[in-house]
Amino acid sequence: MKVTVVGAGAVGASCAEYIAIKNFASEVVVLDIKEGFAEGKAMDLMQTASLNGFDTKITGITNDYSKTAGSDVAIITSGIPRKPGMTREELIGINAGIVKTVSSNLLEHSPNVILIVVSNPMDTMTYLVHKTTGLPKNRIIGMGGALDSARFKYRLAEALEAPISDVDGMVIGGHSDTGMVPLTAHATRNSIKVSEFLSEERLAQVSEDTKVGGATLTKLLGTSAWYAPGAAVSSMVQAIACDQKKMFPCSAFLEGEYGLNDICIGVPVLLGKNGIEKIVKIELAEAEKAKMKESAEGVRKTNSLLTL
Ligand code: LAC
Repeated sequence: MKVTVVGAGAVGASCAEYIAIKNFASEVVVLDIKEGFAEGKAMDLMQTASLNGFDTKITGITNDYSKTAGSDVAIITSGIPRKPGMTREELIGINAGIVKTVSSNLLEHSPNVILIVVSNPMDTMTYLVHKTTGLPKNRIIGMGGALDSARFKYRLAEALEAPISDVDGMVIGGHSDTGMVPLTAHATRNSIKVSEFLSEERLAQVSEDTKVGGATLTKLLGTSAWYAPGAAVSSMVQAIACDQKKMFPCSAFLEGEYGLNDICIGVPVLLGKNGIEKIVKIELAEAEKAKMKESAEGVRKTNSLLTL
């Protein structure tokens, strides 16, 4: 499997690192527009190979898409990250142009590629790729829910004072501070609903902490987070590479599912060799349905800022 990562910034480099460490891909190409930057990151990462025990070959490229030819999966992380106090939506002006160019360059050399969109505002960027490339919807996947769910599990484990491996839960909806819908009613600890252990107030706090997970880190770090985003992407790529049919909430193009049309937003999907193998429909509680509807309205508002 050949994987291309566009953008050698913190998120892109973290994607490449985790993919390599998990040792399922033969080749990872990292591409950046900044002269020598991707080459440097790739060389540094390759010098960890003997220490971390992987055989994935990582190469760095300055803006030459011909070197990405024949990629099975490509990850788009390029664009500007948010600064403290900024919302993901504020990045749309600059990032829309970048994402459009990057996806068209990728497809020119890898017509069969599966695209994973990470650039923010992610749901809108995923929708933009859908509208501008004409690719079948199973081959355009937005990364948000896998990350938000990992943050949800972290906060749940913290509240439960339990190891994270005891906890399961998902976040659907838009990948934004207000749009995320943590499915608290479905979350479990060792298959027992977390509501058996946590008060309604504590669960509401877990939800709030999850929704501002990215913003909290941006404030602490001065820029957007990278370890968990990179780890989330690598798990998704592994599910595709190994045809796992593994369930993640991802931003997918909806045609009636969850009562929504003509929008990319986070819903549970199965990832396998064809990308999105299936959109999984689960029964939502009334309150969750209302939150999902509201979340979709927020995503549509951002989508309306696109010039398609
Ligand atoms: C975050 C960015 C990747 O949530 O959107 O950290």
